[in-house]
Amino acid sequence: MPSVLLTGFMGSGKSSVGREVARRLGCRFVDLDEIVAAAAGKEIPAIFATEGEAGFRAREVDALSRLLRDTEGDEQLVIALGGGTLTNPAAVSLIARRTPIVVYLKVDAAEAWKRVRGSSRPLAQDESAFLQLFAARLKGYEQVADLTVNAGGSSIDVVAERVMEALRARPREGR
Ligand code: S3P
Repeated sequence: MPSVLLTGFMGSGKSSVGREVARRLGCRFVDLDEIVAAAAGKEIPAIFATEGEAGFRAREVDALSRLLRDTEGDEQLVIALGGGTLTNPAAVSLIARRTPIVVYLKVDAAEAWKRVRGSSRPLAQDESAFLQLFAARLKGYEQVADLTVNAGGSSIDVVAERVMEALRARPREGR
């Protein structure tokens, strides 16, 4: 099976569900945010503070590119993207060339905010800006995803099982 990329807004559970999906698939899990922070030698809030969002996006697409290239071949990975990774056209064209399976974890805005409020995420510091960003991005996730999974109001295990079911049931050819 090709690698699986998890997308969705901040607070949709990409990292926790991704870890569980990787366990069930018996493959490696990678969190793109962690790779970006490790490569930069600083945490994401510090990257935003010193390089701005544009600097962060450039680092993010570089990290994704390296990851997809380095794991090309037989290794299957589950990769949790950041909530904004696929707002970058360069990242979208990258995955179009590599053809992983993109799974969108869908939650509603209120639940996402409940999960991330009080965190250090630079784009989740203010509720109304967060909700605006949610609305602006919503369509984009659906457009880019191969599979959409309801990730609201359920445990990590339940959502991971929904992802597994969606992967098993997915149409095989094309996007
Ligand atoms: C971002 C989401 C974050 C992280 C960065 C920007 C976004 O990841 O990449 O703070 O633009 O939505 P999570 O979705 O894992 O919180």
